[in-house]
Amino acid sequence: MIKQQLDRFHRLDLLGGATALEKLERLSIWLGRDVYVKRDDTTPLAMGGNKLRKLEYLAADALARDADTLITAGAIQSNHVRQTAAIAAKLGLGCVALLENPIGTDDSNYLGNGNRLLLDLFDAKVELVENLDNADEQLQALAERLRRSGKQPYLVPIGGSNALGALGYVRAGLELAEQINNTGLDFAAVVLASGSAGTHSGLALALSEVLPQLPVIGVTVSRTEQAQRPKVQGLAERTAELLGVPLPEHFKVQLWDEYFAPRYGEPNAGTLAALKLLASQEGLLLDPVYTGKAMAGLLDGIGRQRFDDGPILFLHTGGAPALFAYAGLFA
Ligand SMILES: Cc1ncc(COP(=O)(O)O)c(C=O)c1O
Repeated sequence: MIKQQLDRFHRLDLLGGATALEKLERLSIWLGRDVYVKRDDTTPLAMGGNKLRKLEYLAADALARDADTLITAGAIQSNHVRQTAAIAAKLGLGCVALLENPIGTDDSNYLGNGNRLLLDLFDAKVELVENLDNADEQLQALAERLRRSGKQPYLVPIGGSNALGALGYVRAGLELAEQINNTGLDFAAVVLASGSAGTHSGLALALSEVLPQLPVIGVTVSRTEQAQRPKVQGLAERTAELLGVPLPEHFKVQLWDEYFAPRYGEPNAGTLAALKLLASQEGLLLDPVYTGKAMAGLLDGIGRQRFDDGPILFLHTGGAPALFAYAGLFA
């Protein structure tokens, strides 16, 4: 039912096919537990990542509305802003981004390297703001300013996480279910980073219909479970409503909250250990803000026997360009 409804929405085909599902051979032996990874870090544009799936729908909508400028917001090292700026460049649109410094650092790598460096290459215009506490209003005000100067802005919300953007992860959930079915394996869970929530909401919505027994576990990276739960639930409800389907009976928001301290954008010892382990065992690059924390949760979950039997699937949502912004951590 979700699939038929999804097919009614206009989408730019930017991915060009499914991302790979791979077994992490050496890590699995090392852990004594099979771990697979869905490689959304390898989506084809500008160093990859999960946002391209949301932008397939959001950019299609922007073009349908004759927009000439994409506007969005995020941290100085936002992967979302990087991918939005890249798609704007690819489509011949302008891009203006409001950026905040969520960890209050003056480290020159954070301020100028990694994702931030790439924004200049894509010709994105950047406005630094004190904070993004009222991001929607701040973006609306920016849109108004641009309209007054004759532009046609299209507002891409933080993380691309509105119902339209979340359709990208509904689609990813259907794609993943087909790959899981082809393996013939009975997975214990899917683990992913849960931030602005579009990835988590969309994926959990699709999987709750097509693989209803498979737990989808979001590891919080931005806020506590208490604050994150209504975000994921609310966005899933709005996404189901956009699709014109009820929330599937098995839909459930599962969050693990122990891995994101001290705060968004700042890794902890477990994050760095997970990052180093995956790099040294598998040559696989995680990031210090999202996937390093999610993988730390997966590893700790195995250690504490939080999963049922069966292999575990990690959704790799990208983020490695931020490594260069956090170079000091690995010195
Ligand atoms: C690398 C990476 N992983 C995960 C996420 C979280 O995805 P979402 O914001 O859809 O929850 C983000 C969001 O910016 C990201 O950049």
